[in-house]
Amino acid sequence: MPDSFVFQAPTRLVFGPGSVSQTGAEAAGLGLRRVLLVTGKGPTKDSEGLARLRASLMASGVDCGLYAEVSHDPDAARIEDCASKIVGENCDGVIAYGGGSPIDCAKGAALFAANARLPGSPFPEASWLDFVYGRKAFGHSGLPLIALPTTAGSGSEMSSAAVTVDPAAGRKLGLSSPWLFPRVAIVDPEVQATMSAHLKAATGMDALTHALESYVSKRSTPLTRAIAGEAARLILRSLGPFCSQSPSTEVAADLALASSMVAVAFSQTGLGMVHGFAHPVGARGGVAHGVANAVILPHVAAACAQTAPEPFAHLAAAAGLPVEGLKADRAASALVEAIKILAARIGIPSNLHALGLRREELPAILADALTYRNRASSPRAFTDDELAALLERMY
Ligand SMILES: [Fe+2]
Repeated sequence: MPDSFVFQAPTRLVFGPGSVSQTGAEAAGLGLRRVLLVTGKGPTKDSEGLARLRASLMASGVDCGLYAEVSHDPDAARIEDCASKIVGENCDGVIAYGGGSPIDCAKGAALFAANARLPGSPFPEASWLDFVYGRKAFGHSGLPLIALPTTAGSGSEMSSAAVTVDPAAGRKLGLSSPWLFPRVAIVDPEVQATMSAHLKAATGMDALTHALESYVSKRSTPLTRAIAGEAARLILRSLGPFCSQSPSTEVAADLALASSMVAVAFSQTGLGMVHGFAHPVGARGGVAHGVANAVILPHVAAACAQTAPEPFAHLAAAAGLPVEGLKADRAASALVEAIKILAARIGIPSNLHALGLRREELPAILADALTYRNRASSPRAFTDDELAALLERMY
């Protein structure tokens, strides 16, 4: 644990079944009069949940424009286009409704608009990638943003991170900034329970990866471990039943809470080499983020636990596995095994080859992973050669 640390979690959380209908009151409470509603291109824009959200805005006297243009993994041009719409429609706030992609797009656009497009912005000529690559630093908070996740996975509604694709470089780039915490997260388990089983599995494994990588991070603290350990317990208990046809209210609430709360933890600690590999696998192979994480997680966890079993053993206990009295290496193995069994049960393949990833992509994936920004937080200090061997094993 670091000798000293900062813990910042400024997002107001409104949690519970039916909470989507509180969106209007929350927006009015922030003083918003006209918002841009950002959502995906797919069926979400015609969903009952979105209709209830819009009705609640109308009931609270909040006007809204619609931006239903976001597909998977928004690139910088999409974020800039969304920011232009915010400015063009005279919006004073943003509401994101969808999975991690629409929420990340809305977070980026709300911050980009304030820093580069609204009258008086400090960087009127800047591109979003200027901020992502650190060529410019934000000087302004973004427009107020309310995030409603329709998947139980990314945690973007409670996190300081947003992911952007740089198509020219073939890279997915995470950006973390205190400016990227949404003002309000409205987490409604009933909305998330309507996902397909495949999406539940993929996004749930993303949330489990967040819990594990935050818990074992070298930057973890007692606060972040308390949150990440409990999130792991909820996910290991409930992800299997959540992926069934009609999950119970309790099971849906477990996943909704776990995926949101663990984002508070990883916003402090960063993530690890599962994400270090999953981002380039997603960018180079078109593999959905949660699926990439799910395949990679058992491999990286097993390799880390070989040389640093203690944090994995502690997590196994925190997550409620029966490991009392076991030595650290055995307890760590029990955790890895539990993850493998869960992944197999919900239909996740065991290697990258099975996802259709081409072998020719491996050198570029490795090169990207070697420069992963959170590599130093990994509980095992992998050498470049060890990461190359690990990628070969998971392929
Ligand atoms: Fe993730």
